[in-house]
Amino acid sequence: MFRDCHPERSAQHEVEGSGNAVLRVRDLSVAFGFDKKGNPRDGIKPLQVTDRVSFDIHSGEFFALVGESGCGKSVTAMSILRLLPQPSARIVEGSVLYRASEDAAPIDLATLPLADLQKVRGAEIACIFQEPMQALNPVVTIKKQLMEVFKFCKHSKGGFMTVIRDMLALAGFKDVNRVLESYPHELSGGMLQRVCIVMALLSKPRLIIADEPTTALDVTVQAQVLAVLKDMASRMGTAVLLITHNMGIVSQYADRVAVMYAGRIVEMGGVRDVIDHPMHPYTQGLLAAIPENHSDMRTMKSIPGSVPHPRDFAKGCRFADRCEKCTEQCRSDELPPKQKAPDSENHEANCFLAM
Ligand SMILES: Nc1ncnc2c1ncn2[C@@H]1O[C@H](COP(=O)(O)OP(=O)(O)OP(=O)(O)O)[C@@H](O)[C@H]1O
Ligand code: SF4
Ligand SMILES: [Mg+2]
Repeated sequence: MFRDCHPERSAQHEVEGSGNAVLRVRDLSVAFGFDKKGNPRDGIKPLQVTDRVSFDIHSGEFFALVGESGCGKSVTAMSILRLLPQPSARIVEGSVLYRASEDAAPIDLATLPLADLQKVRGAEIACIFQEPMQALNPVVTIKKQLMEVFKFCKHSKGGFMTVIRDMLALAGFKDVNRVLESYPHELSGGMLQRVCIVMALLSKPRLIIADEPTTALDVTVQAQVLAVLKDMASRMGTAVLLITHNMGIVSQYADRVAVMYAGRIVEMGGVRDVIDHPMHPYTQGLLAAIPENHSDMRTMKSIPGSVPHPRDFAKGCRFADRCEKCTEQCRSDELPPKQKAPDSENHEANCFLAM
């Protein structure tokens, strides 16, 4: 009934047609509620939490996935490297086409044998998480932890301490020696997250997935850490998938953005197009709720209600209960149609409203 998330079969894993994108996610749907054999746990129908999510990330691009809590951002991000909790979560539909280089044939990470996927994890696609302490060993110095990366690294091992020192300097550390000899608890949250950025970039990955990397930090430190990530990734030509619920961060750092609501992407486009001419009422609501956009806080609007739980997803448009522009058609069985922006063919939204 459901597609196997970890098939170890020797099927053809190279897939035609992923264009020149580093990552091409197509119709990716994830459900929770499976047992070890891949059957519905306790005979209860698994709950599908993301629905046919599609987007491309190009080389060197800073791509943001934005939406409120529970929209499916982390599930989407974690399904790229199949890091979702097992055996409960499964990719039930779709593909994750990854290209190791411009000339390489794309491979589908959704069906790649686990042994091959392990070679991609960290070395070619690296992750930065919300809590840097989760990624670092508390009883090992930063120096040893950074040197560990080279054990699994595909690049030359010669002169790796020079590479580490240069990268730490690029990440804004003045006293590199002190950082190298420190244990994680001796550094601040912002410093630790910058160490994690260096750690992720040391293996020269093609893509970094950063899931809310600054949520646990003070606002001033957030900006510093994101600037370091953007600067270092663009110097190295590494693409970044940034997960955030903050439209202000999207506006400041991203090249392109996908807006996610209740497990679906509802709008996507270049950041300036989406911010200056939001098409979907949900995107308009997110932008109206940015405090920085309002000199008088009384003019700031919030979106009434909250994201529905997957068990309560409605037919038609899932935003209907919260949308001021909702019509009868929005609650029909049909999916909201894709609409192209008049001024940019790469900007689109899924909504019944004529744009
Ligand atoms: N381990 C799990 N078991 C069951 N359901 C889960 C699990 N993890 C996530 N979900 C469900 O999947 C949906 C999407 O969750 P996800 O964590 O991707 O949201 P998010 O957009 O990352 O939110 P946040 O901004 O709070 O991190 C939610 O409804 C959540 O309840
Ligand atoms: S499809 Fe209808 S309910 Fe959904 S966002 Fe558009 S106008 Fe609102
Ligand atoms: Mg999340």
